[in-house]
Amino acid sequence: MTSTAIPAPFTAPETDRAMFWWLIVVAAFVCSMILVGGATRLTDSGLSIVEWRPVTGAIPPLTQQGWEQELEKYRQIPEYQEQNRGMSMAEFQFIYWWEWGHRQLGRVLGLVYFLPFVFFLWSGRAPRRLRPRLWILFGLGGLQGAIGWWMVSSGLVDRLDVSQYRLATHLTMAFIILGLTLWTALELRYGPTRTRHRSRVFPWAAAFWGAVLFQIALGAFVAGLDAGRIHTTWPGFQGRLIPDDYLMGLPFWQALFESRPAVQLQHRWFGYALVIAGAVLSVALWRSRDGVLRRYALLMPAALLAQVALGIVTLLAAAPLSLSLLHQGGAVALFMIAGAAAWTATRAPGAPADDQPVGATTARATTSRATSFTDSSARS
Ligand code: HEM
Repeated sequence: MTSTAIPAPFTAPETDRAMFWWLIVVAAFVCSMILVGGATRLTDSGLSIVEWRPVTGAIPPLTQQGWEQELEKYRQIPEYQEQNRGMSMAEFQFIYWWEWGHRQLGRVLGLVYFLPFVFFLWSGRAPRRLRPRLWILFGLGGLQGAIGWWMVSSGLVDRLDVSQYRLATHLTMAFIILGLTLWTALELRYGPTRTRHRSRVFPWAAAFWGAVLFQIALGAFVAGLDAGRIHTTWPGFQGRLIPDDYLMGLPFWQALFESRPAVQLQHRWFGYALVIAGAVLSVALWRSRDGVLRRYALLMPAALLAQVALGIVTLLAAAPLSLSLLHQGGAVALFMIAGAAAWTATRAPGAPADDQPVGATTARATTSRATSFTDSSARS
C-alpha cells in the first residue's frame, strides 16, 4: 500500500477555505483569458481596437455613429489597408467583439481578484507570510494588461500582425500568473510549501514544470509567426529532418526567433524532448511510493502524450481554430498538472515540517490527520 505526504485539506494553521476557493476562481478566469486570447488571435481580431482605455473602454460603441467611428480608426492601420480593405460593418463587429471580450474578461478578472484581496487583507485573514505574494500577483495582473497593450501596439504601424516576441511575453506571463496562483492556492489548502526536507524527486519535477513553460513560449513563437501553417507534414518536414528553408536567409541567431520553419522545428523537437523527460520523471514519481505522486506518475504522461498528439493533428490540419484552441487548452492542462506534481513533491512523506527538528517526525505523524508515511527518500 502507498502512503501520502499530503495532509487532509484545511487542517494546518494558515490554511483557509474561502481564500483557496477565491484563488481557484481566479485561476479559472486566467485559463479562460488564455483561451479567449487564443481565439482572438486565431480569428485575426486582436488589432480591431486601436486604443488602450482600461476604464472607459469597458463600454462598447452604443450607437451606429459610435461604430462608424471605431471602424474609421481601424481603417487607419496597415492590417485594414493591406488585408481587410472594404470590410463590412458586420465583419468589423465580429472581430471587435472578440477583442473587446478578451479585454472585458481582463477587467472582470481584475475585480474578481482585487475586491476579495482587499477584504482578506483588511479583515486580517490573509496569512502574513502570503501577503507579499498576493501583492506580487496583483502587480503581475496589472503588468499583464500593460504587456497586452504593448503587444497590440506593435501591430498598429508598419506591420500586419503583432510582434511574436511580445506575443510570447504576453502568453508566458499569463502562464506565470496561473502557476503562481495555483501554487498559492495549494498552500491555502494544505499548508506552507516546504523549503527543507523535500522529496528527492522535487528538483526534477520543478525542472520539468519549467521545461513545459519553455515549450509554451516556443509555441507562442509558432503561433505568432503563423508557423503552424507551413510545412504541414509529419514526422518530417516534407520528408526531411531539417527543413530546407530553415534559415530563411537570416543569420542563425535571428532565425531562431524569426524564421517560421526554425520556430516550428524548435517547438516540434523540444516537444519530443519533453516526452523523454516526462517518461523519466514518471518513473521517478512512481518510485517515490507516495500515493499522490503516483497519481501524477500516470496523469502527467497521459496529458503530455495527448498534447503532443494534438500538436501533430493541429499541424497536419494547418492550425484551424478548433484544433489550435484544443492544443492551447491542452497546454493549460499539462502546465497545471506539472505544477501540482512539483508542489506535491515539495513534501517528502515522513519528513518533519520546516519548523520542526528531524526527530519530531513521529510526533507530527501521530498528531496529523495525514495517513502513514513510508517514502523511501524520507527513510534514508
Ligand atoms: C509537448 C508539449 C507541447 C506543448 C505544451 C505545446 C504548447 C503550445 C502552445 C502554448 C502553443 C501556442 C498556442 C497559441 O498561442 O495559440 C502551441 C502552438 C502550436 N503547437 Fe504546440 N505544444 C506542444 C507540442 C507540440 C508538438 C509536438 C507539435 C507538432 C509536432 C505542436 C504543434 C503546434 C502548432 C502547429 C502550433 C500553432 C497553432 C496556432 O497557430 O495556434 N505542438 N503549442
